[in-house]
Amino acid sequence: MAWKTLDDIDLAGKIVLTRVDINVPMDDGRVTDATRIERIVPTVKDILAKGGKPVLLAHFGRPKGKPVPEMSLRHVVPALDDELGLSVTFVERPDRESLDALPEGSVVLVENTRFTSMETDNDPRMAQFLASLGDVYCNDAFSAAHRAHASTEGVAHLLPACAGRLMQAELTALEVALGNPARPVVAVVGGAKVSTKLDLLGNLIEKVDMLVIGGGMANTFLAAQGIDVAASLCEHDLGDTAREILAKAKTTGCEVILPSDVVVAKEFAANAKSSTVPANAVPAGTMILDAGPNSVARVKEAIDKAKTLIWNGPLGAFEIEPFDTATNAAAEHAAARSASGELISVAGGGDTVAALNRAGAADRFTYISTAGGAFLEWMEGKTLPGVAALEQG
Ligand code: 3PG
Ligand code: MG
Repeated sequence: MAWKTLDDIDLAGKIVLTRVDINVPMDDGRVTDATRIERIVPTVKDILAKGGKPVLLAHFGRPKGKPVPEMSLRHVVPALDDELGLSVTFVERPDRESLDALPEGSVVLVENTRFTSMETDNDPRMAQFLASLGDVYCNDAFSAAHRAHASTEGVAHLLPACAGRLMQAELTALEVALGNPARPVVAVVGGAKVSTKLDLLGNLIEKVDMLVIGGGMANTFLAAQGIDVAASLCEHDLGDTAREILAKAKTTGCEVILPSDVVVAKEFAANAKSSTVPANAVPAGTMILDAGPNSVARVKEAIDKAKTLIWNGPLGAFEIEPFDTATNAAAEHAAARSASGELISVAGGGDTVAALNRAGAADRFTYISTAGGAFLEWMEGKTLPGVAALEQG
């Protein structure tokens, strides 16, 4: 790998500016899922163990360049204290002198970097200011690495820079899944809309051996092949694009697996009366809400053949029962094969982790990314500015 790690730079007595992503979901002032906080703990502890002083930089929400009290990182401090097992010093306006004055062993959290638009503009003055606060820059925020902001990109060029432990783990897992994977590779891509995943599908059909398309976006592919999807969610205007993707898959030798049978209902509601029909016989007035059992069997077969699996997006309307059936069954199958060492499985992006958690499958996957948008952009084959800056730095 072309980037340095915490092992490559002497941290003793240094202030280590550490970009983390603790953009966690909150409800009523309480963190409802602390996963992203848990995952930065090894980096913070490692910096402390090496005699460095971690000064954490992070964003929270999208305050649009102004202080917004509800988006203060102050609200995340109790959860951060819990996960780290120490008391974090929260600083609204950091200056070098005060940071130097804090005793060894201190961990500092700086207020939301997005309280000024200089952050999102990647203004060189902001990057300079951040650099003046520390001696070393460590980026542990893979899930924000698709943003070229002052704290994720600009500052990386101004100090000795390295990847934190989570960044390292994310990049290593992604390299294993798509960079240089054990073959065959199967990708499972689901979710509502094709329009958000065109680049991703285009990149995957060049890289993977089998591509399972599920969720609402599969309907667009079925319709593109002349199938009447009745009242289903479908981007009818993307027919040409869908046909192009299928044609390109033929030339790259990527086998595309679309649903052969589907679960339909008249309404999108929990426990709505549903039936299973062939994908080319969707009754008028009904909508496709999940893949059927024959489709699931084909997905499982693909997973059985594969040595590597990359998963993004649910196969059906997983939020409501019983339309989580296909997602749960395929996820369980992948989890079991991963647990027995037959499969390397990597999942991430948007709803994916929620769907796999719901299926009770997430902990047996080989790797679960903390990233949403960054995971998608990486699957699209794009260069992530936060990662690229580390490679040069
Ligand atoms: C995320 O939650 O996906 C990351 O923290 C990035 O946030 P953003 O989409 O607001 O840049
Ligand atoms: Mg996002």
